[in-house]
Amino acid sequence: DWTMAAFRDEAIREIRKQVGAGRVICGLSGGVDSSVAAVLIHEAVGEQLTCVFVDTGLMRAGEGEEVVRLFRERYNIPLIHVQAEELFLGKLKGVEDPEKKRKIIGATFIDVFEAEAKKVGDAEFLAQGTLYPDVIESVSFDGGPSVTIKSHHNVGGLPERMNLKLVEPLRELFKDEVRALGRELGLPAHFVGRHPFPGPGLAIRIPGEVTKEKADILRKADAIYLDEIRKAGLYDEIWQAFAVLLPVRTVGVMGDERTYDYVLALRAVTSTDGMTADYYPFTHDFLGRISTRLINEVRGVNRVVYDVTSKPPGTIEWE
Ligand code: XMP
Repeated sequence: DWTMAAFRDEAIREIRKQVGAGRVICGLSGGVDSSVAAVLIHEAVGEQLTCVFVDTGLMRAGEGEEVVRLFRERYNIPLIHVQAEELFLGKLKGVEDPEKKRKIIGATFIDVFEAEAKKVGDAEFLAQGTLYPDVIESVSFDGGPSVTIKSHHNVGGLPERMNLKLVEPLRELFKDEVRALGRELGLPAHFVGRHPFPGPGLAIRIPGEVTKEKADILRKADAIYLDEIRKAGLYDEIWQAFAVLLPVRTVGVMGDERTYDYVLALRAVTSTDGMTADYYPFTHDFLGRISTRLINEVRGVNRVVYDVTSKPPGTIEWE
């Protein structure tokens, strides 16, 4: 892609000019934006960049391992991998309010990130994968979750606390352009094509209290759901697909046994920027197949429902 090659070269020049000989730290979320920003900055200033990946225990199956492998092995980018599942789940214990969950996760993330960043020593810059829609959303207050997106995703508050200057090379790009840039930088196609994933992760897909047991059930269900979507060749047509583990148990039958297990809600939407969305019209055949697989393979779930709400009035996430 000619345009993206030119953009890349120009961005590299600008990063070098801004950063000089300074040290840069970058928080990797496991998502496309922070990964593309990190690889771009690494091309520009090499070993001056250190990445920090905080595993919150609220990621999808295999997501952490994949990021670590990609950065350490393929790109040889210095990466600090922090295992913080127990810390995060401990802080979330007994918390049910969605906004409180977000705030706790954001604050814990910043604490962990700050402690790790300090170990890197004299960092002068903080790199972030802020996109153009993020820049816009942060000025158009609508009272919805979009305002909160910044507070976690962009480790808000941290730059001032640590006296860091921001490096945001993707500020002028939309999601599809970031994906094109990622391909230009040699990131694997399946990685670049990944659906967006919220900073607070699975915590906002478990309405009510988050526990390890629930996170494990949801992780398993999510992996099966996405596997079926990939097999059906639908992954790239969908903006985002995920499961939500409802805090409701219902009665079912399995063989001769009565069961009393959780309800799983499935969500899949099409969108161009996440601001508006339509639910994805799966065939009944597909929905039936996925429901059977989920109930057979995921212990703790005995009922599956499909969310047919568009945005607005619904948001994409359930919390
Ligand atoms: P909603 O649910 O507001 O989501 O329709 C729009 C897009 O933003 C993502 N999202 C978040 N991303 N931190 C994030 O980094 C958050 O707190 C957050 N809340 C929602 C959501 O997954 C969708 O892509």
